[in-house]
Amino acid sequence: MSEPRPPAVQHDHKTDVPAAERFAARTAGMTASEIRALFAVASRPEVVSLAGGMPNLAALPLDALSAEVADLVAREGQTALQYGSAQGIPLLREQICEVMAEEGIRADPDDVVVTVGSQMALDLVTRIMCDPGDVVLAEGPSYVGALGSFAAYQARVVHVAMDEHGLIPDVLRHTLRTLAAEDIVPKFLYTIPNFHNPAGVTLSVERRAEVLEICASHGVAVVEDNPYGLLGFSGVRYPALRSMDRDVIYLGSFSKTFASGLRVGWALVPPAVRDRLVLAAESATLCPPSFNQMLVSRYLAGHDWRAQIKTFTEAYRERRDAMLAALETYLPEGCSWNVPDGGFYVWLTVPEGVDTKAMLPRAVTARVAYASGTGFYADGLGSRQLRLSYCYPPPERITEGVRRLARVLEAELDVVRTFGSSARPALRPGPQAPSPHTP
Ligand SMILES: Cc1ncc(COP(=O)(O)O)c(C=O)c1O
Repeated sequence: MSEPRPPAVQHDHKTDVPAAERFAARTAGMTASEIRALFAVASRPEVVSLAGGMPNLAALPLDALSAEVADLVAREGQTALQYGSAQGIPLLREQICEVMAEEGIRADPDDVVVTVGSQMALDLVTRIMCDPGDVVLAEGPSYVGALGSFAAYQARVVHVAMDEHGLIPDVLRHTLRTLAAEDIVPKFLYTIPNFHNPAGVTLSVERRAEVLEICASHGVAVVEDNPYGLLGFSGVRYPALRSMDRDVIYLGSFSKTFASGLRVGWALVPPAVRDRLVLAAESATLCPPSFNQMLVSRYLAGHDWRAQIKTFTEAYRERRDAMLAALETYLPEGCSWNVPDGGFYVWLTVPEGVDTKAMLPRAVTARVAYASGTGFYADGLGSRQLRLSYCYPPPERITEGVRRLARVLEAELDVVRTFGSSARPALRPGPQAPSPHTP
């Protein structure tokens, strides 16, 4: 008997595109992050990766947690391994309110929606707020995962500049007026006020009320993304924007303060937003994972999570100091960077003519990886910037990574001095090829 033949491959007859590849237009804006393309090489052990934002979990009490996991399965397995409510477990939502109280937020657990990391909250908020073409304001630079969600829903990002005190209110005001002249009211301002990713800066307390006032007067919602707020080095706790205005949509996460792999985050939203957000969450995942929520809940109830955050913060401060000292020691003249007072990141500006995206493969070859600046802008800026993360490698690896980066930069600067920009197109072979003597 002959084998049954598989059915013929389906093609779109008009375009000859295979049936499974007739993608929605919105996928055109979805691109892999620059570092993802180099990930396989950058994650080799000989490469010092200053690229990712992976928290350092070495200090977690793993023995205590494994006992907690075993007990959770033994005593509450029937619930922990079952579907749960789309909004999240009520006890965890109460505990999340206690966590947020650390930054001055008074909230009702009914207004908390637990999500699969705050990334999902960000994605769902964009989904329920933005139609294609809508404008979203975001700091320039901004978190690459947020830019990814905005692109996926075909929102247009308009960046608002920052300085060492965070988002600049006058620039925000001016941007909103310019957009208003074109009859455009942005759907929301997306902001990371504390220990910004990637810029490392914090919005000053004086500017917080002003930013809220400006947005309110233009009818623009505020989305506050705050995964790093409890990871300050000087012990200062900044008041959350949400603590000053109950209409702010607030996103939080246990990724940086506990365990990123559990993927537990949340949104605190006004009641009118909550109902839509829960519907959107339901259509995305039915419910957040019960097991992970219950583990986070047990951790918060049974462990000194505040002390754990202090331990994390001390480790990050030590790494930050190692990075700053190495930058000071090794980097060539003409580089500048900020001094972050918390969080994971230093934002580095390199001398004119060096292109950080073009330089990245050469850096990886020299066994150091970073995230180039262009990935943090929706408008192509950032080619003279790069983000360095000090969260993951131990201090001596950070020092070595910066030393390698400095050598790569020196080599780029040699090219710049000889040819102009380090991102020059490849030299053409043949008689018209520029020689090292070409001006
Ligand atoms: C600013 C910002 N928002 C959101 C996220 C996503 O965090 P989560 O792990 O909770 O999805 C990150 C992760 O790096 C981040 O830096």
